[in-house]
Amino acid sequence: MVIIIIINNLLSEPLAMYICSCRALTDRDVGNAIQGGADRPSAVYKSCGCKPDCGRCVAKIVNMLREHNQEVTQAPA
Ligand code: FES
Repeated sequence: MVIIIIINNLLSEPLAMYICSCRALTDRDVGNAIQGGADRPSAVYKSCGCKPDCGRCVAKIVNMLREHNQEVTQAPA
């Protein structure tokens, strides 16, 4: 029964990818922060209730912000 539940969960939700290993932030965490109005990495960290440590994830967060901005500007009016 437990195996069926685990498999069902794996099939129904895409796996989250870690963006920030220091703060255990996933792409979902960062995406939710961006959807919530975070417009720069510092705002993403603040929205997630943390501060950056090593900073290696900043470039990934910037890329996610750019992708979001492109989607918003390309969306039909
Ligand atoms: S990977 Fe995000 S602060 Fe280190």
